[in-house]
Amino acid sequence: MNTPKRYTITAALPYTNGPIHIGHLAGVYVPADIYARFKRLTGKDVAFICGSDEHGVPITIKAKKEGVTPQDIVDKFHAIIKTSFEDFGITFDNYSRTSAKIHHDTASEFFKTLYDKHEFVEEVTEQLYDEEANQFLADRFVTGTCPKCGNEDAYGDQCESCGSSLNATELINPKSAITGNSPTLKETKHWFLPLNKHEAFLREWILKGHKKDWKPNVYGQVKSWIDDGLRPRAVTRDLDWGIPVPVPGGEGKVLYVWFDAPIGYISATKEWAEREGKDWEPYWKDDSTKLVHFIGKDNIVFHCIIFPSMLKAEGSYILPDNVPANEFLNLEGNKLSTSKNWAVWLPDYLKDFPNQQDVLRYALTANAPESKDNDFTWNDFQARNNNELVAIFGNFINRVVVLTNKYYEGVVPKPSEYSEVDKETLAAVKAYPAVIESSIERYRFREASQELMNLARLGNKYLADEEPWKLIKTDEERTQTIMFVALQIASALAVLSEPFLPFTSNKLKKILRFAINDSAVPTEQSSNKQDTILWHDIATKAIILPSGHTIQQGKPELLFTKIEDQTIQEQLDKLEANKRANEAANKEVEPQKDTITFDDFTKLDIRVGTILEAEKMPKTKKLLVLKVDTGIDTRTIVSGIAESFTPEEVIGKQVTVLVNLAPRKLRGVESEGMILMTETPEGKLVFVNPNTSVNNGLQVS
Ligand code: MF3
Ligand code: ZN
Repeated sequence: MNTPKRYTITAALPYTNGPIHIGHLAGVYVPADIYARFKRLTGKDVAFICGSDEHGVPITIKAKKEGVTPQDIVDKFHAIIKTSFEDFGITFDNYSRTSAKIHHDTASEFFKTLYDKHEFVEEVTEQLYDEEANQFLADRFVTGTCPKCGNEDAYGDQCESCGSSLNATELINPKSAITGNSPTLKETKHWFLPLNKHEAFLREWILKGHKKDWKPNVYGQVKSWIDDGLRPRAVTRDLDWGIPVPVPGGEGKVLYVWFDAPIGYISATKEWAEREGKDWEPYWKDDSTKLVHFIGKDNIVFHCIIFPSMLKAEGSYILPDNVPANEFLNLEGNKLSTSKNWAVWLPDYLKDFPNQQDVLRYALTANAPESKDNDFTWNDFQARNNNELVAIFGNFINRVVVLTNKYYEGVVPKPSEYSEVDKETLAAVKAYPAVIESSIERYRFREASQELMNLARLGNKYLADEEPWKLIKTDEERTQTIMFVALQIASALAVLSEPFLPFTSNKLKKILRFAINDSAVPTEQSSNKQDTILWHDIATKAIILPSGHTIQQGKPELLFTKIEDQTIQEQLDKLEANKRANEAANKEVEPQKDTITFDDFTKLDIRVGTILEAEKMPKTKKLLVLKVDTGIDTRTIVSGIAESFTPEEVIGKQVTVLVNLAPRKLRGVESEGMILMTETPEGKLVFVNPNTSVNNGLQVS
């Protein structure tokens, strides 16, 4: 695309049924924010758009569970999520929500347009129905076995194990998530988007048009989808939470959440434009607008196939220029999981690390899951902070500011002649905007963040090599030049760090007393103001901080502080504790079996015995062959405990034995009784044994 006139940058609308965690931040919101901030800093016209995705079955399920309305759920989490984004400096121009009227209207209208253009196929099909709950089972209301990979916990719309997108009727052994019943089939009418009809266009657009600059992970997934053959996809549902289907016959039905949610980008843009007194249409309909969708990999087909087909069918919209989807972030080696509470939630992070948003932003960017799944570890987080932010960036700034105050009372000194090293250093600084820009333009934010750190390294090395603290005693003139150069590097860092470390950049600008013509500190939003130094000024302006300019005096605020091992250990402990608490809460206790009579009970002959001998049953993993003294005799019992105990461990142990169980043969060995055991939640077997030594043969009653 030729130089775009404006940028519409979207970040996936988060589902509003929980807070957000580091995986969301790393995969979508931090890279999107870096990109948007960078574009604004280069003077571009930007609409950075997001909002809460408030429809969909999981929200209804959560509401049912908690005995509240879906609206209650989304109101609660919309507020929490919105605050988290603000807290972490994600500079959306608008953060809207799909329950807003403007969105209902926009999505309805969009649907009607496609309906009027005969872009849908209307069809009566048999869908899964729960007779007891009196309701159709769409999407996450039904689980079953994935027909593609055999995962037994696939949902009606998607298998999270293999990533396949499914129709509920394709599930093997479907089960209602409401009652647990096996559903029946019932006829119902729906509207389908015939993706097959758009195949030629999609092939042309993606496979031919974009293969060079789309990320391989995105391109690969889209290609395999198209090659697999596209089928019509239902875009309505028999549910009561969502946007009503606005056409005849649509009563009691709503739009499929994945139909309405991406239209949320458009409604949020409209809402923003209305507020700002702008025209929204160029941001979505002008060819010279660059539209970029930031998403996680589970959203690829929706943004690269379904939404573009919708936009194309509508006819008046532009299509995304790129969809830089990220892979997933894991946490300490395990998949992030809301249900297992294996996550670092943003509100929790801020409580434990107040004012340290940039540390997390940096750690997540430096280790972003750009081309493969990646692991977040607290140790890496600590190392990124201590070894890079503190030791390199913070240390450099601190030295520059302290020395400028000490030698010159905070006034930028006058340089005399530059040495070769000075010239090379200043030239290297000027090259950074282009270097970092090139990484950002290719959506390589990890690389970009490392280049930024290299600029700080350059500053650190310059000071270490030039040693102004020694020269001050012998050569004041040379010291002035060195400090002048160092102050220019610090200024470059203040500007170029803004997309990555916005809080730090602000602090640093305050310390250096930007902007120059106006001692006011530039605010978050003022990057488009005239008096603000823009990205390319670092490359083009000879000098950023002129001699005679005064920086903040007194002891400078530290930009970063060291994180101790103890703090990291606390986070690791907290994760483990969360996980355990969660396991306990979710522990499924077997329901009580059918009642038996006292006579039934007295039929059981349970006695204390001692294991005399034990050996492994050949060619099995689980079985031990035991000789047990039951007090009445010594008998053979085959027991499935070999995965929890070695033979040596059990010899000599007293155990309780059911002695009048009918004998049965296991692998050819006759077993004459059963040892009583219990299994812990971790899957370890434990003997049910008398805790004081008693005589073998005593009855248990
Ligand atoms: N809510 C979806 C998710 O969290 C993303 C929706 S993106 C949009 O996976 F395009 F539909 F808005
Ligand atoms: Zn699967």
